[in-house]
Amino acid sequence: MDKISIGLLGLGTVGGGVYQLLQRDNEAINRRLGAELVVEKILVSDLKKARNHEIDKSLLTADPKDVIDNEEIDIVVELIGGTKVAKELVEAALKKGKSVVTANKELIANHGSEIFDLAESAGVEIDFEASVAGGIPIIGPLKDSLVGNKIVKIMGIVNGTTNYILSKMSEGDEYDHVLAEAQELGYAERDPSADVSGDDAGAKIAILSSIAFNSRVTPKEVYTEGITSVSLNDIMYAYELGYAIKLVALAKKRGDELDVRVHPTMISLDHPLAKVDDVYNAIFVVGDAVGELMFFGKGAGDMPTASAVVGDIFKVAGNLKKEKKCYSTCTCFNSFNVKPIDEVESNFYILMEVLDRPGVLAKIAKILGEEGVSLGSVIQKQSSGNLAELVFMTHLVREGNLRSALSKVSDLEDVDRVCNVIRVETGEDG
Ligand SMILES: NC(=O)c1ccc[n+]([C@@H]2O[C@H](COP(=O)([O-])OP(=O)(O)OC[C@H]3O[C@@H](n4cnc5c(N)ncnc54)[C@H](OP(=O)(O)O)[C@@H]3O)[C@@H](O)[C@H]2O)c1
Repeated sequence: MDKISIGLLGLGTVGGGVYQLLQRDNEAINRRLGAELVVEKILVSDLKKARNHEIDKSLLTADPKDVIDNEEIDIVVELIGGTKVAKELVEAALKKGKSVVTANKELIANHGSEIFDLAESAGVEIDFEASVAGGIPIIGPLKDSLVGNKIVKIMGIVNGTTNYILSKMSEGDEYDHVLAEAQELGYAERDPSADVSGDDAGAKIAILSSIAFNSRVTPKEVYTEGITSVSLNDIMYAYELGYAIKLVALAKKRGDELDVRVHPTMISLDHPLAKVDDVYNAIFVVGDAVGELMFFGKGAGDMPTASAVVGDIFKVAGNLKKEKKCYSTCTCFNSFNVKPIDEVESNFYILMEVLDRPGVLAKIAKILGEEGVSLGSVIQKQSSGNLAELVFMTHLVREGNLRSALSKVSDLEDVDRVCNVIRVETGEDG
């Protein structure tokens, strides 16, 4: 049987999972592959660190050269994370003619273009299924299985931490309490800012939209809004109106432009994404030929993520075995602009606190109307003291118009504050 050797960079959460899966199912994987997969070396930063799983210590090294310059190694699997050491080592491995598998969303989202060019000129493959939504196969399906489709829309819940927080808040728990609980359970980092700000989801939708629309989208082009402004009040009103609030990473093609953004979104309770709770991830894809699809599963964790990494290793090893020259050709052959957020049209939910006296609603409606904001419905409820809460649901409106209208509304002395504005996904815009 041919032998295909693997060098792991990193033996942390995901690296440990990959090592275990490769050991556990080695015989079955080898038989399906028709070749013997062997872990040759594993790079770690601390050789003395206690490991959670049984490991042949002779495989460990703290010297990157033992992997990168190792002639035996065919596939380098990068599971270090970040864009410094990981980028240097991935580039070095590609230059040495080794195929690469990575789970690193930051690396692919921010430096995908350079890395693909490098892989192409070296005539090797790079795969990164685990970089978006952990264990859920989505990159492979978008690249291969759905190639006969024009992708119309992608809507993803791709960050487990924020989905857990919003799910628990929908049961009545306050944000701060749920975040602390999520940290205790290991669902949220000690520093949760990349998750709650929407940046993590932004990097993931940059990758998915680049693949879906064959046009490079980088994280800095993605409009991103996190979940910290979502209140229990918003969640309660959303439910009353028939919606759940989720942090949605969204990508659509509009003519020759892309609409790519991450923000809290009100989704109809009938929509399959509204039922995705806790740390689960899901990606809803609409293709013009296939129609609606939903990919659901665990978006993080050692074994789910390792499952995706091992799938990529199997794919790369299969190509090596067939001695197929696999060029990781960059599929971004289009160059569409990403629409500025002010030009994007959405339906909106607006919650404001106003003085509870006659004529206020009429004044606000007049300003909204003058700025082209058409209202679908209004709810008025007594708040505290002499204040009332007003909830507006708009029809489709250009975001720039809404912002300008709300700035004028906020200046009214009858308006105490605009508490929150949340985009509503009604499907009205296709
Ligand atoms: N965790 C998840 O659920 C998840 C899900 C999807 C994608 N990912 C991605 O998978 C990648 C790995 O994440 P992880 O959670 O497994 O990270 P992790 O637990 O922090 O593990 C990182 C590993 O890299 C090693 N390492 C760090 N810096 C190094 C250096 N300078 N030189 C050599 N080795 C170094 C560490 O060595 P020591 O063991 O000696 O400290 C450790 O084994 C990241 O790109 C992450 O975004 C993770």
